[in-house]
Amino acid sequence: MALPGLALGFLLVLSPLLGTQEQRDPAARARRGARDAETCQRPLWDPRLRLTPDQEEYSQNEEVTLSCPKIFQAPFTHVRCAGEVQPNIHGKPTYIEGWLGKGTGGAWIRIRSKVECMEAFQVMPGTLEVSTTSIKLNWTCSLPDACQRMQATCRLAGPSSPSCEAEEVTAKEILHGQNGTFTCDHLQPFTFYSITISVPPSTILFSRLLRTKATVPEKPERLWLDASTGTLRWQALPSCKGEILGYQLNVTARSAQDGSFLEFQKVTVNSSVTQYTPPRQMPGSKYTVTVQGLTAAGAGDASYLEFQPSVLGTCQKPWWDPRLRLAPDQEEYHRNEEVMLSCPEGFQPPFTHVRCAGEVQPNIHGKPVYIEEWLGKDPGGAWIHIRSKVECMEAFQVMPGTLEVSTTSIKLNWTCSLPDACQRMQATCRLAGPSSPPCEAEEVTAQEMLHGHKGTFTCPPLQPFTVYSVTISVPPSTILFTRLLRTKATVPEKPERLWLDASTGTLQWQALPSCKGEILGYQLNVTARSAQDGSFLEFQQVTVNSSVTQYTPPRQMPGSKYTVTVQGLTAAGAGDASYLEFQAYVSELQPYENSDHYCVIKERFLAEEDAGRGGRAGERPSLSLPLPLPILESSGIRQSSEGEEKMG
Ligand SMILES: *[C@@H]1O[C@H](CO)[C@@H](O)[C@H](O)[C@H]1NC(C)=O
Ligand SMILES: *[C@@H]1O[C@H](CO)[C@@H](O)[C@H](O)[C@H]1NC(C)=O
Ligand SMILES: *[C@@H]1O[C@H](CO)[C@@H](O)[C@H](O)[C@H]1NC(C)=O
Ligand SMILES: *[C@@H]1O[C@H](CO)[C@@H](O)[C@H](O)[C@H]1NC(C)=O
Ligand SMILES: *[C@@H]1O[C@H](CO)[C@@H](O)[C@H](O)[C@H]1NC(C)=O
Ligand SMILES: *[C@@H]1O[C@H](CO)[C@@H](O)[C@H](O)[C@H]1NC(C)=O
Ligand SMILES: *[C@@H]1O[C@H](CO)[C@@H](O)[C@H](O)[C@H]1NC(C)=O
Repeated sequence: MALPGLALGFLLVLSPLLGTQEQRDPAARARRGARDAETCQRPLWDPRLRLTPDQEEYSQNEEVTLSCPKIFQAPFTHVRCAGEVQPNIHGKPTYIEGWLGKGTGGAWIRIRSKVECMEAFQVMPGTLEVSTTSIKLNWTCSLPDACQRMQATCRLAGPSSPSCEAEEVTAKEILHGQNGTFTCDHLQPFTFYSITISVPPSTILFSRLLRTKATVPEKPERLWLDASTGTLRWQALPSCKGEILGYQLNVTARSAQDGSFLEFQKVTVNSSVTQYTPPRQMPGSKYTVTVQGLTAAGAGDASYLEFQPSVLGTCQKPWWDPRLRLAPDQEEYHRNEEVMLSCPEGFQPPFTHVRCAGEVQPNIHGKPVYIEEWLGKDPGGAWIHIRSKVECMEAFQVMPGTLEVSTTSIKLNWTCSLPDACQRMQATCRLAGPSSPPCEAEEVTAQEMLHGHKGTFTCPPLQPFTVYSVTISVPPSTILFTRLLRTKATVPEKPERLWLDASTGTLQWQALPSCKGEILGYQLNVTARSAQDGSFLEFQQVTVNSSVTQYTPPRQMPGSKYTVTVQGLTAAGAGDASYLEFQAYVSELQPYENSDHYCVIKERFLAEEDAGRGGRAGERPSLSLPLPLPILESSGIRQSSEGEEKMG
């Protein structure tokens, strides 16, 4: 098997791969014999590789075309059999099978490793970079046609949660060429995104769910000192920019006098803790506290708070209602000192006890300031923050807006906060002043005991437009509430008498008293009908003021009969009507003096009417009715209920 022309000095450093190369076992060589001297066996490469031509043996320099299944690619499109004679480990020249591959530039290079089908698209190993705001990768593509149609997308994976709002991101880019970098940036930290590179419609080349890196958290939104306990508190941070691992507090104490450093403390608490009580607070020192959230990326921005334990202990005398009495009465109170409040007789403080407290809170500029505060003891014994000026209140109150006066009742809601007096209250409701003719008012004296802290008091049925006095008192002599109230007006009674003065043709009626309401005027309806067949002729409505008790209809047509109604008017409207019917001929006038008689007449009249042509008093003439008789004198009020004479 020795080959000529091999110099012993031709020493090459043998590649470690030689052992895996086509150095067949001696038995196989012997079987094939000398004929095979300068050939290459079919190489033992990637089984997916297709060789063309596909043979068991190739002669020296024979070219073979390589190919791979879809989306895979061979590193060489062509290989060539090229054996070499090299000294073996004993220095003896030996024929060694070998292959050359045609590189991209067309040059033949020696193949030193196993030839494998490679994925045509690759995210280059080690190039996928995920930061807090971007995802970046380098890719290569060697499938000639597909590489021109690749699409890379980057999108928010899953919905954003309410505590950590994540913006929807859908970045899309077309990738071209054989290699490149795809970058997805302006992302939010600590958020999942899906990265996909595909060849539409359906070939996925790469797909990965990636979370951007954590950053440091925001500063805690609120940091305050609960002065009553001396405990620092802050609002928990959401794990939006990174998992919150805990909080770091720096507490620095300095001298309040000269600002010189006294003490520094660093405390780290875990994420479930949102409060810390500094172990000792030295009087005469001022404290600066910073609180920072911690994530894997480190500590975030700090919230600051500054306070002085010495000041925290006191509250100035509060500027409340000057009638309030404080016991003890001091210019300054210590923290947690209880103060009793009282008011002059008939008044009551909203709290019987208050307590000095105080809180350090950020002011409008975000700068922490100490705010004096008072707590008040509510009736249940709980201490609540006092948010407004404390004032002496009337112990008894008719609740504003609850006093309701109607035509027949008076109603009110009351509250009482005087512990003993509230059990002995008496409410009365009585007619104010004697009843005067012509308005007879019934004597009313309702009395009721009121109990408890609140309730409703209602006067019994009352008369309209009548003045009553409502009084709530604690016998024998304390008046808590008293008021003169007039019930609302109703419509008046009907005028008692209505008659026609036959000599003048004037209607007259008796003035109504203002018993059920102030009489504002009278409303007259005058209807004329034919005396023969009862057919409608004319309708007139007239309103006169309250001082007028007579009315002369402007014209009376012979052969017609008239129906007149008179109603009194109050603020509540028109009352019941008095009726009168008469015939126009002065010589034939049949005055019916009293409307009581009229009832009979009216019945007959209406019966005639029903048998006749219809149309009733008070109805406006409709166009289908026969025209009224010839007009004797022209007047604006003729056949018009709208032409009424206005009052006053
Ligand atoms: C990715 O490619 C760009 C240019 O194509 C190169 O500058 C960068 O170094 C590559 N990144 C890595 C991690 O190899
Ligand atoms: C990327 O492709 C260009 C030509 O398209 C080539 O010159 C360059 O060497 C390639 N880079 C890599 C890292 O393959
Ligand atoms: C708190 O103290 C630590 C350690 O001394 C320091 O690194 C950090 O910056 C301090 N934080 C603030 C907000 O000053
Ligand atoms: C945080 O600390 C509290 C009290 O020290 C403990 O009960 C809790 O299990 C801790 N939580 C974590 C997440 O370490
Ligand atoms: C008065 O109190 C009664 C019950 O106590 C209540 O139903 C009513 O709404 C109150 N009236 C007003 C005007 O608040
Ligand atoms: C008087 O006429 C007016 C207007 O047409 C009507 O509202 C009122 O009810 C009449 N009065 C009577 C007692 O018929
Ligand atoms: C009512 O009318 C009369 C006559 O028109 C007039 O003198 C009087 O002042 C009026 N009264 C009122 C209250 O309007």
